[in-house]
Amino acid sequence: MGTQEHHGDEEAFAIRMTGVVKRYGSRQVLDEIDLAVARGEIFALLGANGAGKTTTVEILTTLLRPDGGSTQVAGWDVATHPDEVRRRIALTGQSAAVDDVLTGQENLVMVARLCGLSRRRARSRAAELLEQFALTDAGARRAGTYSGGMRRRLDLALSFVVRPEVLFLDEPTTGLDARSRRELWQVIRSLRDAGTTVLLTTQYLEEADELADRIAVLNGGRIVATGTPAELKARVGDESVEVRDADGSLRGRIPTDGSLSAVRAAIDELVTAGIDGTVVLRRPTLDEVFFTLTESPSPHDLHDRMPA
Ligand SMILES: Nc1ncnc2c1ncn2[C@@H]1O[C@H](COP(=O)(O)OP(=O)(O)OP(=O)(O)O)[C@@H](O)[C@H]1O
Ligand SMILES: [Mg+2]
Repeated sequence: MGTQEHHGDEEAFAIRMTGVVKRYGSRQVLDEIDLAVARGEIFALLGANGAGKTTTVEILTTLLRPDGGSTQVAGWDVATHPDEVRRRIALTGQSAAVDDVLTGQENLVMVARLCGLSRRRARSRAAELLEQFALTDAGARRAGTYSGGMRRRLDLALSFVVRPEVLFLDEPTTGLDARSRRELWQVIRSLRDAGTTVLLTTQYLEEADELADRIAVLNGGRIVATGTPAELKARVGDESVEVRDADGSLRGRIPTDGSLSAVRAAIDELVTAGIDGTVVLRRPTLDEVFFTLTESPSPHDLHDRMPA
């Protein structure tokens, strides 16, 4: 059995990319991307503008052909079995599927009919989806009147008329206010809890930290780090001893390895320096992790610079 054959349900990974390369002319926009996303997890691809997030999603969803490497999604090879992959995935983010003239309910019934459900079954599926995506109250209103957050939820609901094995979300919460973002996070979690694997892209560290089981940090077309939010934070160092004054502003900080003796030495040092206030032990935020990981050269970079 070659790699292009279906691996069946025993395959632990919903997504696997190995050595994927993409060039535009002489510009290499993806450089040997490796990704492994387990079934049933929320995986975040975190990166700044131009990092290669959309390019990666387009390759995974069969919209773009890579120049090298191999990609499997839902147990099928994207290059050799794109139709099998398409049948098992959904891609949302652009709200392109939403018809503004129709109500939310009508949008859902229409797509359900297109998917081959009977009129009766389409109506009951629409009602289920309106409920699941917190749109029951808005179901009878034209989609054109929806807020940004409601549109994203309707768009998601449309891709769940037939439940996908793997859901791709390219910057699903960009442009949403804090509250709509939280509502969408809740919906995405519920989809994961019901068994769908989710790969989303984001520029927001907070979003990756809150939502993702695992994160890959993409920078300049390369994965510079992969891990759980806690693992990524740990890579930048363990607890720092911080001293803050009454209004919470930072008076002093000393990084430690988290051991009792190091923490005690740090406190002694702060006391000797005459810094007083409330002591807290703090792990680095994902923001700090991101900047550390993307500013310092990756091992790959160092390797490239070694003399031949
Ligand atoms: N069709 C194309 N032709 C030439 N260059 C392209 C093309 N599509 C993307 N690129 C370049 O590839 C790089 C990665 O683009 P991509 O859209 O994947 O980034 P992104 O991480 O999704 O960014 P954003 O956060 O802005 O959406 C960018 O430098 C972009 O300019
Ligand atoms: Mg993009």
